Amino acid sequence: MKITIVGAGAVGATCADNIARKELAEELILLDIKEGFAEGKSIDMMQTAALLGFDSKIRGVTNDYAATAGSQVVVITSGLPRKPGMTREELIGTNANIVKGVTENILKYSPETIIIVVSNPMDTMNYLTLKTSGLPKNRILGMGGALDSARFKYYLSLELGCSPADLNAVVIGGHGDTTMVPLIQHATWNSVPVTQLLTPEQQEKVVKATMVGGATLTGLIGTSAWYAPGAGSAAMVESIVRDEKKLISSGVYLDGEYGQQDISLVVPVIIGKNGVEKIIDLKLSEEEQAAFNKSADAVRNMNGVLADMNLLS
Ligand code: 2OP
Repeated sequence: MKITIVGAGAVGATCADNIARKELAEELILLDIKEGFAEGKSIDMMQTAALLGFDSKIRGVTNDYAATAGSQVVVITSGLPRKPGMTREELIGTNANIVKGVTENILKYSPETIIIVVSNPMDTMNYLTLKTSGLPKNRILGMGGALDSARFKYYLSLELGCSPADLNAVVIGGHGDTTMVPLIQHATWNSVPVTQLLTPEQQEKVVKATMVGGATLTGLIGTSAWYAPGAGSAAMVESIVRDEKKLISSGVYLDGEYGQQDISLVVPVIIGKNGVEKIIDLKLSEEEQAAFNKSADAVRNMNGVLADMNLLS
């Protein structure tokens, strides 16, 4: 198994670190445009192998797409991260051109690959990758849902005083501060609905904190988060590589599911060796569907910018 991660920034490097520790790849390529950057990070990670006891091989390259040839999975993390006060959507002007170029380069050498998109604004970048690549929709996945669902579980765990790993909870919609829809009515602590354990005020607090989870971290750190985004993308890679058929909220192209068409949004999907094995068309309440539709409207508006930038032709 050969895996490539494009972008050796904090998210890309953390994803590589997770993949190496889990020994998911015989060959892991880390690519960056900055001379020597991916090489340096790869060597640093390889020097943890003797300490951590993993047997993965990571190779860093500077813009050398030939080195990525034959990758079965590619994770695209390229582009600018957000700064405090910025929305993910404000990154579109810079990141759309970068993501389109990366996708074209990757496909020259790995036409059979499955692509996981991390770059922001994630829903629109996932849509752009799908349109640019012309790949079947099962082979393009956006990472935001895995991350937002993990944040949702974290905030639930604080209120419940339990381990996040004991919780089942998903976020759907867009990967944006105002567009994500944490499905609190469906969340459980080992099958017990959290709505029976938390007051309405606590539930509202958790939902709000989840929605601005990324912005909170950007405010504290001064740039975008990387541990959970890196782990989220690695978990998706693992489900593909090991054909685990895990149910992970992911950005996928919708063709009628959830009443939406020609858009990429986050919904629960089963991930296996073919990428998206199945989209779970969850039955939503009226209120949840309305929130999802609102989110779709916002993402569709953002996708319109791609046409304005002449990136969809
Ligand atoms: C986040 O929410 C990077 O979009 C990512 O932290």
